[in-house]
Amino acid sequence: TRVLVLNGPNLGRLGSREPDVYGNQDLTALTKILIADSPGVEIDLRQTDSEPELMSWLHEAVDTRTPVILNPAAFTHYSYALRDAAAQVTKAGIPLIEVHISNPHAREEFRHTSVISSVATGVIAGFGFDSYRLALTQLTRAPLVD
Ligand code: DQA
Repeated sequence: TRVLVLNGPNLGRLGSREPDVYGNQDLTALTKILIADSPGVEIDLRQTDSEPELMSWLHEAVDTRTPVILNPAAFTHYSYALRDAAAQVTKAGIPLIEVHISNPHAREEFRHTSVISSVATGVIAGFGFDSYRLALTQLTRAPLVD
């Protein structure tokens, strides 16, 4: 199994960017943490500042039926194009979990809106890199059956 872990704009700056909000660790550290967490799962972690590139990765997720952990970063708050790309993933029955390092609801007003959440399978925010770990746990755990 493979999981796409997609990161939007400015997240390539993690480690040096606003460490009071986002911590001291970078995406390389995050990749290592996720790999250590999930033996047998291929972690395909990517970052881009480009909206069309991020959209093309969501299109790829649809075509390859690959589950997605998505931190849309600032696109969260205004990108209807990204939202429409994310909707194609979940409408195809592929899980897409929206994650945030910080808790956007505890921050500026403009961060309180997510145009992605209503088309995501679920949302995890506010737990630092653990937001990604929780999402990965959810994607890889055995489903409850009754
Ligand atoms: C973020 C929250 C967004 O509001 C912000 O634009 C980011 C990162 C987070 O992970 O906490 O770039 O998605």
